[in-house]
Amino acid sequence: MRRKLFGVVLAVCIGWFQAGALTDAAITTSPEVNGQNQTSATLSCNLTNPTFPVKGHYWTNNGKIIDKSETNSDELYIEHEIKKVDYHSAGLYACVFLTEPQVNATIEVKVPPHVVAYKRSENANEKDKAVLTCMSQGYPLPTDWTWYKLKDDESVETAIVNGSDVKYEMKNTPNKTMLYVKDLDINSDMGMYQCQGTNQMGSDSDKIQLRVRSQLAALWPFLGIVAEVIILIAIIFIYEKRRKPDEINDGRATLLRTTKTKMSGKGTPTEKGEKVS
Ligand SMILES: *[C@@H]1O[C@H](CO)[C@@H](O)[C@H](O)[C@H]1NC(C)=O
Ligand SMILES: *[C@@H]1O[C@H](CO)[C@@H](O)[C@H](O)[C@H]1NC(C)=O
Ligand SMILES: *[C@@H]1O[C@H](CO)[C@@H](O)[C@H](O)[C@H]1NC(C)=O
Ligand SMILES: *[C@@H]1O[C@H](CO)[C@@H](O)[C@H](O)[C@H]1NC(C)=O
Ligand SMILES: *[C@@H]1O[C@H](CO)[C@@H](O)[C@H](O)[C@H]1NC(C)=O
Repeated sequence: MRRKLFGVVLAVCIGWFQAGALTDAAITTSPEVNGQNQTSATLSCNLTNPTFPVKGHYWTNNGKIIDKSETNSDELYIEHEIKKVDYHSAGLYACVFLTEPQVNATIEVKVPPHVVAYKRSENANEKDKAVLTCMSQGYPLPTDWTWYKLKDDESVETAIVNGSDVKYEMKNTPNKTMLYVKDLDINSDMGMYQCQGTNQMGSDSDKIQLRVRSQLAALWPFLGIVAEVIILIAIIFIYEKRRKPDEINDGRATLLRTTKTKMSGKGTPTEKGEKVS
């Protein structure tokens, strides 16, 4: 009985010790980086009370190991320098300590979105639909996307609402927005559009020019080819018609006569020439 109790107490103590040992290892990190007021940053991790010796460490950005950040050192305090905080370097960073088990901590480097149009201008035919696309880079990705139609002076004409009068439809993913403009009208739909992406750090936008061609304009290339063919046929026809009077004394006879004149050197070539032509 006493032995059993001792066993239970021991087990509980061991459990406690293990749980305590596991939770004791902790990493304190530098605060998250705010790209609005920081142009460079030094990320740091400080590992306290490791349960096992540290055999090395590395850093990751968005889950990918950062080049040359892997070492075998047993340091408990490590740093990673970001020379320029921008949409290229922004991301979810993590420091990983190679101990038993591995431990890590994350630090966010946040910047306003960087929004770019997939194409600066888009052409579409009247009555057809156009697709305007914008993309975003950086971290975090936009939580909101909005589209505007701009006036000639670049001020906002309308804030586009998804599904409004079946004209517009938006499809958004965190890193991409697509605006479908349907049943294109040459007067009202042509012009400049603006896409805007917003995250907690701010927003950014870009512009796309939409050109609408009349349905007749879509025919122009075809009409051009038809015109070309007609002109070609006309030229061949006229050429053939002008050749017709020669046809009687064409070929051998003409050849023979010209060679004769050349060989004999007699007679006036101009006279013969006039007759031939
Ligand atoms: C940066 O700005 C945020 C608010 O936008 C503020 O909370 C933070 O303390 C600022 N950081 C520095 C280093 O100035
Ligand atoms: C790491 O954390 C320990 C314990 O909190 C502290 O004593 C030590 O100064 C820290 N090291 C650095 C480099 O900040
Ligand atoms: C950090 O640790 C957690 C759980 O321990 C693990 O799921 C995650 O993959 C680790 N992250 C990195 C970057 O190693
Ligand atoms: C816009 O509406 C369509 C259809 O009603 C829907 O499939 C799409 O997810 C909506 N997009 C946004 C950004 O709300
Ligand atoms: C956008 O995100 C999707 C997954 O959500 C990914 O497959 C794609 O590569 C990303 N595109 C860009 C340009 O980052």
